[in-house]
Amino acid sequence: MTILTLVTRNGTHQVPAVTDQTIVNLAKQHKIAWGHACERGICAQCRTKVEAGAECLNEVTKEEKLRLRKAERAVGFRLGCQIKLKRPGEVKLVHVPY
Ligand code: FES
Repeated sequence: MTILTLVTRNGTHQVPAVTDQTIVNLAKQHKIAWGHACERGICAQCRTKVEAGAECLNEVTKEEKLRLRKAERAVGFRLGCQIKLKRPGEVKLVHVPY
């Protein structure tokens, strides 16, 4: 089983990873505060830095391409409501709202 590391300003949390669930949903299930409002890639309250395991995640969505600057995406920023785990591996995500 993959353990997903989620880092928020309240600390580091490790949760069992489930494929095809968004990070916002996984955080909610584990009562981890991961800011979100729209869950549609618009508000960016769920802005996330991928620190490890990008290869285990789904492709960047068109919503992320519209909402995040290319320079942000180039250094690993994504949106937690769009990220889904696609295969096992070591994944570390940090919640970095604006
Ligand atoms: S919850 Fe609004 S962009 Fe992710």
